[in-house]
Amino acid sequence: MNNILGNRAAEFDDIVEYTSILNNLISIDDLSVEDVRHLILKAISYSAIDKSHYPPILKNKTIINLFLENSTRTRLSFEMATYNLGGNVINMTLDGSSINKGEVLKDTVLTLNAMHPDLLVVRNSKNNTAKDISKYMDCPIINAGDGSNEHPTQALLDAATIYQNLGDLEGLKVAICGDVKHSRVAGSNVKLLRKMGAEVRLIGPEELLPKNDLELYTDFAEGVKDVDIIMMLRIQKERLEAELSITEQEFHDKYGLNAVNIKFAKPDVYVMHPGPMNRGVEISSDIADNEAYSLILKQVEMGVYMRMAILDSLS
Ligand code: NCD
Repeated sequence: MNNILGNRAAEFDDIVEYTSILNNLISIDDLSVEDVRHLILKAISYSAIDKSHYPPILKNKTIINLFLENSTRTRLSFEMATYNLGGNVINMTLDGSSINKGEVLKDTVLTLNAMHPDLLVVRNSKNNTAKDISKYMDCPIINAGDGSNEHPTQALLDAATIYQNLGDLEGLKVAICGDVKHSRVAGSNVKLLRKMGAEVRLIGPEELLPKNDLELYTDFAEGVKDVDIIMMLRIQKERLEAELSITEQEFHDKYGLNAVNIKFAKPDVYVMHPGPMNRGVEISSDIADNEAYSLILKQVEMGVYMRMAILDSLS
């Protein structure tokens, strides 16, 4: 395995002993520390085995991807993960569905349930969608992003990426920077990182920071001081309640990460971004494409392995 962990076979042995009690994955609150640890190690173990040895544990199983909001990484990695484990995938998006003919989500979901899928992955612009529809489904449900609330599988793949590059999350300092208030990635990451003992701080303009008990910084240089990881987030334009008082240029000047202001952080800081990136706004290409700092494509890679681990644990 090509990472700082080397061969941690002893830890992988532990996961054989673990019995998952997971029915759905709707929120990070559904997971114990032990569940998270299991999923991280399972994802990393999938990253270390050759494709030809993936176990066909989803053989004869059909997963429906119900994506009512746009997606590249999340949807494709759920598809790839399902195929890797020998399962079948059906994709459903808003375009071309009867939701556009006026059908309410409850009826769509009852219709899908009547076809007896083995698992449903759902993304929607409304908070709590996965929770709300779980009562109509007989199979497990995975939340692939609900409004500005949560995106648990992203936080889990982020945690596995951190673990693979930096080791244990406990005691690490992580700064989440940008539009934290409207980001479901931030919502799940704050919960998961704190659950695993990391220290989380938030950086951004006041109007894009949530009100909570975390350390909040409106000054970028102060916020990134001493952190091990900077997670950058795009402005979630589709979720803003009102026009921002800060312009995109001002946001870029004060909070956009580039090769100059990264010097305020430790020289060995890592940079993460869930994608999609808006290059030249929250992150510059000189950082996004710089392998010394950027874990961004490693996150994408881990996304497939983490979704395999999750499908494995829920199926
Ligand atoms: C994120 C999302 O959809 O919440 N993307 C993703 O799943 N990788 C982040 C975003 O849209 O900004």
